[in-house]
Amino acid sequence: MLKPDEAGIGRAAALLSQGALVAIPTETVYGLGADARNDRAVAEIFAAKGRPQFNPLIVHLADPEMAERFAEVGAMARALAGAFWPGPLTLVLPLRAGHGLSPLVSAGLPSVALRVPAHPVAHALLSGFGGPIAAPSANPSGRISPTSAAHVADGLGGRVAAILDAGPTSVGVESTILGVEDDRVTLLREGGLPREAIEAMTGPLASNTTPARITAPGQLESHYAPQVPLVSGAARPEWVRIGFGPDETAEFNLSPGGDLVEAAANLFAVLHAADALARNTNRPGITVAPIPDKGLGRAINDRLRRAAAPKG
Ligand code: TXA
Ligand code: MG
Repeated sequence: MLKPDEAGIGRAAALLSQGALVAIPTETVYGLGADARNDRAVAEIFAAKGRPQFNPLIVHLADPEMAERFAEVGAMARALAGAFWPGPLTLVLPLRAGHGLSPLVSAGLPSVALRVPAHPVAHALLSGFGGPIAAPSANPSGRISPTSAAHVADGLGGRVAAILDAGPTSVGVESTILGVEDDRVTLLREGGLPREAIEAMTGPLASNTTPARITAPGQLESHYAPQVPLVSGAARPEWVRIGFGPDETAEFNLSPGGDLVEAAANLFAVLHAADALARNTNRPGITVAPIPDKGLGRAINDRLRRAAAPKG
């Protein structure tokens, strides 16, 4: 565990330079980071997560200007970056010739996913490291995403050289992903930047969040899953209950006041805790109260649907 001070951040940057894996804080979830230019280090990410190799990774950058080194940034992408970076938005853009990234990062696709996180420790690390950091969420493939250093240690503790601990994450769900081709923008994953905020700029978005050909884990039907069954709807006797808003029967509550931002920030930590409780007390599963499908509620419902989907 590294502290988020100058020494800890310096140590994390040095480990990344040596090709080691370091779990890094961002405002959305913790990432499993490696030097995006180092083939062996990037391959270690897939091995540590147990993730199928065909899934591309998000590349994290210190500032928007760095995007030009790796991708063709057109007018629409530049406008989106100007409005929402740093922040919980990932842009999938055409790779630029001479980009220098490991081909494993984009899984052989002609595009790359880029993001500038809004987190002071992530920013300090990215600036200190001075290069691109490839980082998927720091959880074993298919499991609940980590919103604290303890979650990372639970799932991947033995597989990382270090965890840079900056406390719980503030947004709590992964970044919103947009594909941008010329002026056409497609929503690829609901996430921490609400769709409404983007549409205020782009107009109505086409979305492609469950494509016929799965290219990425955030698009897999079963994902973000607890180890016990999870269903949305009414409380059931014996099942662990996760509430939203006033809920008499709930053992956990995403937001007693019904606030969607608070609910997103709490989502994965509550899923981790409810999963552990159900397993430790031999309960049949978890039920979750309905969440309004607007703002960050869209990303929450997307994650809950995938968490509830049959596995395998
Ligand atoms: O908030 C986040 O986005 C977190 C933090 C750590 O930044 N990262 C994250 O990464 O969620 P990951 O690997 O769990 O999700 C990567 C997603 C894939 O599911 C896929 O949808 C998309 O990024 N992706 C990456 N490269 C792509 C590409 N070239 N084309 C289409 N989708 C791509
Ligand atoms: Mg993930």
